Amino acid sequence: MLGLCVILAVLARTVAQDAEEPVSYTCTDGYEYDPVRQVCKDIDECAIVADACKGGMKCVNHFGGYLCLPQNAQIFVSSGDEPSQPAEPSAPANPPQSPGQGQSEVQTHVQPGRGPGRRVSSSRILRCTPGFILDEQNYCRDIDECTRGRHTCSADQICYNTRGSFLCQCQPGYQKNGDQCVDRDECLLSHYCMHRCVNTPGSYYCECNSGYRLASNNHSCVDVNECQVSQPCEHQCHNLIGSFICQCNRGFELAPDSVSCIDIDECAYSPYMCQYACINTPGEYSCTCPDGYQLQGTRMCQDINECETSHECTEEEMCWNYYGGYRCYPRNPCEDPYVRTSENRCVCQPTTACRGGPQSIVYKYMSIHSDRTVPADIFQIQATNIYPNTHNTFRIRAGNEKGEFFLRRSSNVSAMLVLTKSLEGPLELIVDLEMITHHTVANYRTSSLLRLTIIVGPYAF
Ligand SMILES: *[C@@H]1O[C@H](CO)[C@@H](O)[C@H](O)[C@H]1NC(C)=O
Ligand SMILES: *[C@@H]1O[C@H](CO)[C@@H](O)[C@H](O)[C@H]1NC(C)=O
Repeated sequence: MLGLCVILAVLARTVAQDAEEPVSYTCTDGYEYDPVRQVCKDIDECAIVADACKGGMKCVNHFGGYLCLPQNAQIFVSSGDEPSQPAEPSAPANPPQSPGQGQSEVQTHVQPGRGPGRRVSSSRILRCTPGFILDEQNYCRDIDECTRGRHTCSADQICYNTRGSFLCQCQPGYQKNGDQCVDRDECLLSHYCMHRCVNTPGSYYCECNSGYRLASNNHSCVDVNECQVSQPCEHQCHNLIGSFICQCNRGFELAPDSVSCIDIDECAYSPYMCQYACINTPGEYSCTCPDGYQLQGTRMCQDINECETSHECTEEEMCWNYYGGYRCYPRNPCEDPYVRTSENRCVCQPTTACRGGPQSIVYKYMSIHSDRTVPADIFQIQATNIYPNTHNTFRIRAGNEKGEFFLRRSSNVSAMLVLTKSLEGPLELIVDLEMITHHTVANYRTSSLLRLTIIVGPYAF
């Protein structure tokens, strides 16, 4: 008790000459007593409180407390009389009159024109530090510069009232550049666009590469299944990640536009696609054959044997099929004095009537392809009866005026007809082949004729 009285006495003597009684000085929260200057001094919480502000906020010391503000916030001090001093109230306060009401404005009471250390007296004329206004209860209350139009924020800035002052902040998406708010390019900073970021005034949006679309989170890009969305291919569509590919049905190929299909002209591949004629159709081709032929398989042509199927030969006629058609020949080709002894065989009766002419005439028919490669053995003539003491010779008696044939003796009783020039059909040739038999003992000769009708078909098949 004694010690306390001494301290108070010292304080009273040095602090206040005209104090009527010893006074105990206490400072409100956020202030501390400065025994040298004898004032309540604001505590710089930013300097002494570790981690006063979280989350990267900037700590700004303020009367009786501190503010946590964004790093880019700027503080404007209203009226600007003594901007460096407002944080220092010049008088210690009495014990707070009503601390429970939280009227901390009392901290900024100032006694006009007097030295520090004066007790606050409500009967005097009081003045508040800039940014505060005295109310009816002699409290200095904060002026809301933002609502009262006493701020310097520009039209594109947002005004925030603070104790004793105000803050100007930029709209979201904008940032301070000197006194101005300029668009923040979110695309240059961190953004979450999967493919492309597009900056806009105050904001940004994401774009996706072609073949993708923006997901519902507005940042990711997801593949577009073009095949389902727009059926872009003429034939078959295969979706790929970010793209698609078209395929054509068999017989078609992809056009240069990569989506259309154009018919492949298979006939143009090769002249050998078909033996006779190739007909291109969309997606495929087919072969045709000329009259008298039928398709064998897909490309070959086969002669139709009209004599076995349909022909118009009479009973007296014999049907002879050849490559590409048929002929009707008389069953009995024999002319007087020749009489028919067997099929195709005419014999002179009696033989004396034919002296000088062949004893017998045999009719034969054969068919060859057009443009047949030469030389080619095409027909063999052979003696039907072989007698002893005879010698046979063979010759072409008629029908070889252009020299298309050559008869080669192949044995004593046979010879081969050789085609020496290629024949182009359709063509009909009649060649008389003669066999002369020399009877060596009786010393006489007989002759027999083979009348060969050669029909050259119109085609090489
Ligand atoms: C994506 O953007 C649209 C239109 O801008 C908006 O309506 C929607 O809420 C946004 N979705 C998300 C997840 O942000
Ligand atoms: C062919 O005739 C000759 C005589 O003219 C004879 O010597 C030869 O043996 C005969 N050849 C055959 C295969 O009959």
